[in-house]
Amino acid sequence: MSSDKDSCSFSIGDTAQEKGLPYVPQRYVVSPSNRSSLNPEKAQVPTIDMARLRQNDDEIRSMAIKELGDICRHGGFFQVVNHGICQSILDEALSVASGFFNLPTEEKMKLSSNDVYKPVRYGTSLKDGVDEVQFWRVFLKHYAYPLDAWIDSWPENPLDYREKMGKYSTEVRKLAMELMRKITKSLGLGPNYLGQKMEDGMQVMAVNCYPPCPEPDIALGLPPHSDYTCLTIVLQNAPGLEILDTNDHGQWKLVPDYRGALQVHIGDHFEVLSNGLCKSVVHRAILNSERTRISIASLHSLGMDDKVGPAEELVDDEQHPKKYKESSFRDFLDFLAANDIGATKISFIESLKL
Ligand code: OGA
Ligand code: NI
Repeated sequence: MSSDKDSCSFSIGDTAQEKGLPYVPQRYVVSPSNRSSLNPEKAQVPTIDMARLRQNDDEIRSMAIKELGDICRHGGFFQVVNHGICQSILDEALSVASGFFNLPTEEKMKLSSNDVYKPVRYGTSLKDGVDEVQFWRVFLKHYAYPLDAWIDSWPENPLDYREKMGKYSTEVRKLAMELMRKITKSLGLGPNYLGQKMEDGMQVMAVNCYPPCPEPDIALGLPPHSDYTCLTIVLQNAPGLEILDTNDHGQWKLVPDYRGALQVHIGDHFEVLSNGLCKSVVHRAILNSERTRISIASLHSLGMDDKVGPAEELVDDEQHPKKYKESSFRDFLDFLAANDIGATKISFIESLKL
């Protein structure tokens, strides 16, 4: 049963999930309405075949772009196949991520921080020791673009971490850029709408580790949230990502795990840019009692201080008034620093609504 007998363990390096406690302390227990099912319904995730999006044949390509646009307007969640990133690059990224989390605590603690502005940081939960409810997660976040600017501050161990994670980061960013161009095209804004701002945009890798949880139905790995990004691409080694299916009365659905496929979702900044035509995807991470789950979320946004507002082309005074105020990645970090996201009182996207 849950217990709070170790409620003194409040800090990174000494949390229940890092120690592998055989019970769930009280401060991880989420409210009954937020608990997950041990046997969740599977999500029907639409598939985007990159081979079709890359077709020379105009007709096939146009059809694929139209399908992508429809998906972005209805759900905003899809999996990508035929993306061209080798399976070995995906496997090795997951493997070095796992290798990092298996290091002794002292080694990982060199990078530990609760400061959300740090470009490289190891942490637990969301902001451990600060937030009201804690989450059964351990993570490493690091900026990844331009790679040369950041790679020297990534973990030194495992010895091949930088090389392998660097390779994946570079490949997945190319894919994200390509998808973002296709999405702005499908919204009628053209493939170069974000132009240089997108080329100079930020990439943050959120490398997540969810150790086995002795009572997976009463705690969560990550609470319901949407990402601040334009686009997020998730690579995982086991199922555990759930999306709130807005096409089915807001049911939580588990994203099935197909080897080689990458999971993509629309973030807050695309919702804003599209003036609400696309909605950012609300998602969470659930737990299991058997194995450690690793996920790598690659988060793509514009530059730190580049403001994203609704595209003028999608705003008119009569039928489509401007629905959101402008914001940047830095504005999101300010929001994250000031708010307890896990308590879900207000989300970043809500704070932007006019
Ligand atoms: C995230 C995230 C999902 C997962 O890091 O923002 O939503 O499955 N991760 O770990
Ligand atoms: Ni997320």
